Amino acid sequence: MAQLPSSTRTIPDIARVPRHVAIIMDGNGRWAKKRFLPRIMGHQRGVESLRETVRACRDLGVEYLTVFAFSSENWRRPVDEVSFLMSLFLKMLEREVANLHKNNIRLKIIGDRSRFDDALQRTMLEGQRLTENNTGMTLTIAANYGGRWDMMNAVHQLLSERPELATTFTEADLQPYLCLSEAPEPDLFIRTGGEKRISNFMLWQLAYAELYFTDALWPAFGRKELEQAIESYQGRERRFGRTSEQLVAGQSPEQASKGSGNA
Ligand code: IPE
Ligand code: IPE
Ligand code: MG
Repeated sequence: MAQLPSSTRTIPDIARVPRHVAIIMDGNGRWAKKRFLPRIMGHQRGVESLRETVRACRDLGVEYLTVFAFSSENWRRPVDEVSFLMSLFLKMLEREVANLHKNNIRLKIIGDRSRFDDALQRTMLEGQRLTENNTGMTLTIAANYGGRWDMMNAVHQLLSERPELATTFTEADLQPYLCLSEAPEPDLFIRTGGEKRISNFMLWQLAYAELYFTDALWPAFGRKELEQAIESYQGRERRFGRTSEQLVAGQSPEQASKGSGNA
């Protein structure tokens, strides 16, 4: 199976505009609270921010946008909020999938879907199926997703298919079983809402992502805020464990990656 470069082994292609942006869309509840509205109004307004962000990413030439919509830990929220989020999810898919398709955007859902009700599971699958051959941006929604779940799930699948590797498997053996194995690793990670943590999102794939935290609450995030994040990204030097000198112009990623032991 052809594999994409892994950031812990080689230096991936780095473009001025990040190829893959991953976002923790946080702060919906606080946005609503500040306006004396119920938390669910923040989630509702958050769908608008997502729409604007998808459009802006597509316009800027981002190839993959991955957003955290519901974590494996979010089931612990009050029952009413969880059920509102589930119905919002369904409504959003029903309303937006045709639009994504029209814009040549491929939709993917990652996470353990088995806990969602039948209608939601069906709509997710239909959305993925309808858009699977689209060649524009890939929008991935992480729902009932957790980074630890992703890794455990990958190990279980690998060992059930290739039990002979139980004590010898390498990163490269595991990689195809992880979520988003067909996408380059995220270049830029954004978390809105002011918290500076990863909250169990893409623990494996974020190994060498550039991290960007903003106090903007998700319902107030849009094109301008995305551009600010990308501008910050463009000012970073991504070294992947090397020195600045190794990265000087003219040196190929292969040269710079020499000595990267665990290939
Ligand atoms: C993020 O906003 C949306 C989900 C986790 C579903 P929050 O609901 O976490 O908003 P805050 O962090 O409480 O403000
Ligand atoms: C992370 O936000 C999950 C999503 C945005 C879907 P949370 O609001 O659940 O994260 P914590 O609880 O503040 O770490
Ligand atoms: Mg939150």
